[in-house]
Amino acid sequence: MLSTLLSMSLCNPRSAAIAERACALPLTHPAVRNGARARRAVLIVCTAGLAWAANCVAAFAAEPQLATYRVDNGAIHVPLTREPGDAARGRAAVLSRDAGNCFLCHTVPDAGDTPLGNIGPPLAGVGKRLSAAQLRLRLVDSTRINSRSVMPAYYRTEGLNQVASAYRGKPLLTVQQIEDVIVYLLTLRD
Ligand code: HEC
Repeated sequence: MLSTLLSMSLCNPRSAAIAERACALPLTHPAVRNGARARRAVLIVCTAGLAWAANCVAAFAAEPQLATYRVDNGAIHVPLTREPGDAARGRAAVLSRDAGNCFLCHTVPDAGDTPLGNIGPPLAGVGKRLSAAQLRLRLVDSTRINSRSVMPAYYRTEGLNQVASAYRGKPLLTVQQIEDVIVYLLTLRD
């Protein structure tokens, strides 16, 4: 974590450009062209510089910035993406073990043969009970509605316990999946 923080604070496009220039420049210098020792030194500096630059890119990729949102009256009114949600993709995310896993705790009206859990309320009719804005907060961070909720916060990475290293720093659903799931839930009106 410390090394990630360090490399993130040292990483910016300007220093990456300097590392690249340092690699290219000395190759044209006569001392480098003619001397084996100087060539070796350039090679070492270069390799280290490029490895550092690659590390920079990895550090940024590993710590995605979460989208910001504002909670008003138990709801998030502004959609998290520009692209509107898609009900079919949302349904797939709700019924997917790799994405929402919602059916572990909720009955879902059109789940077919999937065995369903009943820890949470049935999702049938939820599109009539709750608005898109209320559903958005419920999905993003259910503990903002009920601090003791056992429902996972699908778009939060802070304050979670026992997260496997492969999932650390990543929300359970992407912003697009959240918007897709909202549109699907809104279709459940009976
Ligand atoms: C580990 C169990 C669990 C999982 C997984 C889970 N939920 Fe929940 N959910 C709950 C519980 C429990 C509640 C009841 C309120 C509370 O305790 O926060 C709830 C409440 C809700 C509500 C409010 C329902 C209402 O009528 O007020 C919605 C909507 C909802 N969940 C959608 C989802 C969706 C969509 C997913 C998957 C992306 C999901 N839940 C995954 C346990 C879960």
